[in-house]
Amino acid sequence: MSKIPFLLIFILAVASLPVINNWLSHRSQNLNDDYIGERLDNYISKNFDRVLKALQEESAKNSYANATKNKISQHKNEIFDSTYPYSGNENSNIIAVGFFDYSCGYCKAIKNDVKQLINDGKIKYIFRDAPILGNNSLKAAKGALATYFIDKEKYLDFHYAALDHRGEFSDKTILGIVKNIGINENDFNNSMKNNADKIEQMINNSKLLVRNLGVGGTPFLIIGDSLFVGATDLNVLRKKVDELKD
Ligand SMILES: *[C@@H]1O[C@H](CO)[C@@H](O)[C@H](O)[C@H]1NC(C)=O
Ligand SMILES: *[C@@H]1O[C@H](CO)[C@@H](O)[C@H](O)[C@H]1NC(C)=O
Ligand SMILES: *[C@@H]1O[C@H](CO)[C@@H](O)[C@H](O)[C@H]1NC(C)=O
Ligand SMILES: *[C@@H]1O[C@H](CO)[C@@H](O)[C@H](O)[C@H]1NC(C)=O
Repeated sequence: MSKIPFLLIFILAVASLPVINNWLSHRSQNLNDDYIGERLDNYISKNFDRVLKALQEESAKNSYANATKNKISQHKNEIFDSTYPYSGNENSNIIAVGFFDYSCGYCKAIKNDVKQLINDGKIKYIFRDAPILGNNSLKAAKGALATYFIDKEKYLDFHYAALDHRGEFSDKTILGIVKNIGINENDFNNSMKNNADKIEQMINNSKLLVRNLGVGGTPFLIIGDSLFVGATDLNVLRKKVDELKD
């Protein structure tokens, strides 16, 4: 046997010991070391492909998680930026950041979970309007931020109403939302005009961040050093928050 495959098998055997050991001891408590060694040799030679695959998957998962942590830490000033709208416990040092597009189905679907997470009162939650689904999404995002510059609290009303909206966004539906949440139409139009550059810059920055983090779509959430892509279960998010709390 040449050196490299031999080395590989040796590494595999050592690396898989805890897993296999666990599996074996699960079946019988009183095994001696020789017996385990023999079973291990046997198991590895019979299941070489499976062992290799499991180890590769584990290592891919670890290096993905590692790469994500590195990216988050590299961009942390842009991510945890409190000049963007936020809600929740503003004194908390656990910060979650949500990236969303008002036309995206999963963003709408996780609305109530995000609301719950904020209402738990343990985190500060920053909202990042990242419209990646075209011009109508962009319009809605601009409307949200124009509202933010009029009244920070009303931003949240706009945000949740826009997520509840079904169908395409148009100037008319956006003005409808604005009026429904008690913002004067004239004030809104003025804010759209007067804050146009700031709003565009904020949206551009959020979209650039989506690209730099290498995430393919919305929604995604960053909590501390972890990234949750798509519609993540509320319990998973709560578990992460509690981990950071300890
Ligand atoms: C994780 O990333 C750090 C920082 O770049 C690096 O030093 C370390 O070797 C990486 N670990 C793994 C398992 O890839
Ligand atoms: C989006 O809007 C821009 C400028 O308002 C326009 O040039 C572009 O054609 C529009 N794109 C689509 C797909 O409607
Ligand atoms: C606000 O702007 C919209 C176009 O986006 C226009 O239709 C509407 O008449 C304007 N409203 C006021 C009060 O100026
Ligand atoms: C935002 O991005 C758009 C499209 O890439 C670009 O045309 C525009 O100049 C940018 N605006 C600002 C304020 O950076």
